[in-house]
Amino acid sequence: MPLGLEGIVGESEALRDALDRARKVASSRLTTVLIVGETGTGKELFARGIHYAGPSRGEPFVAVNCAAIPETLLESELFGHERGAFTDARAQKRGLMELAGSGTLFLDEIGELPPRLQPKLLRALEERRVRRLGGLQEIEISCRIIAAANTSLHDAVTRLEFREDLYYRLNVFRITLPPLRERQGDVELLARHFLAELARQQELEPKMLEPDAVAALRAHTWPGNLRELKNVIEHAAILSEGPSIRAEHLMIQQRTSIPASRASGPVREIQIPPEGKSLDAIEKEAVQLTLQITRGNRSAAARILGISRPTLARKMREYGLYQPANGHET
Ligand SMILES: Nc1ncnc2c1ncn2[C@@H]1O[C@H](COP(=O)(O)OP(=O)(O)OP(=O)(O)O)[C@@H](O)[C@H]1O
Ligand SMILES: [Mg+2]
Repeated sequence: MPLGLEGIVGESEALRDALDRARKVASSRLTTVLIVGETGTGKELFARGIHYAGPSRGEPFVAVNCAAIPETLLESELFGHERGAFTDARAQKRGLMELAGSGTLFLDEIGELPPRLQPKLLRALEERRVRRLGGLQEIEISCRIIAAANTSLHDAVTRLEFREDLYYRLNVFRITLPPLRERQGDVELLARHFLAELARQQELEPKMLEPDAVAALRAHTWPGNLRELKNVIEHAAILSEGPSIRAEHLMIQQRTSIPASRASGPVREIQIPPEGKSLDAIEKEAVQLTLQITRGNRSAAARILGISRPTLARKMREYGLYQPANGHET
């Protein structure tokens, strides 16, 4: 997989604009970047691209998913702690802000950063210093921060769930990734790109798309965006035994177009086949469909489902509904 921004495919104007902005900001090492887009629109791909296209490509790229880690752990992960700072703190630990060195710290799902940690992050961004938990010494921070959020971050500010000052501090250089339904022209291009990628991995010839498959791809509205498209293509490549993919190989869910101008969308159904279905599978679908309805807004989805945001995050994790980006890389 190419590092940097070269592997990002798309010809639509909105995507070209985003790429152009990413290229420009890649070279200014310390500029904070906010990447906003629906689920599966390529936020992490862009974050990595900016890092590897810039002067710090040899330094660490550290990704943290703010929604996937419990609050107390997240605090010590980000800022580190001194020995004895809390009961389990047997040894001193450096925080990811330190460990990112002069590389990049990618804060995924920043909208889920617990309110208590928001002023701490703001201070770290403004003063470029942190203090480990239980520590007195100020440690200088030299990494770039790239944050990613879904399109509801601004609503969270209006609802006072996300601090406005932090929002403005993060929103210095914003890159907005368009949903796939607004770049229908790219769907076919991306489908071929994913087929070529698969073929390369398997050292085979790429499969072709029959006209009826292309028509079906174009007709769909892709609520899960590029991740959904990629999954549909991988699935189809397995199902079709011949050299080409037909519409029947594409496991596209029923149309779920949500016209922006209409508040009420189509009715979504959970189907129980004749042989029945496990409660887990039903719950997974309920979570998935609710997130589609709220376009990835977790606070809204949790409210509708009548569960807390951490519970929703846990269920999403359990059901593999997104790829957690915690874990450290260099
Ligand atoms: N423009 C693109 N060209 C090629 N591949 C892409 C492009 N955009 C996204 N992808 C691929 O689509 C998948 C989803 O992208 P990514 O994980 O970056 O999305 P995301 O916005 O972080 O999603 P989520 O909000 O669900 O975490 C990845 O496999 C990524 O490599
Ligand atoms: Mg992501």
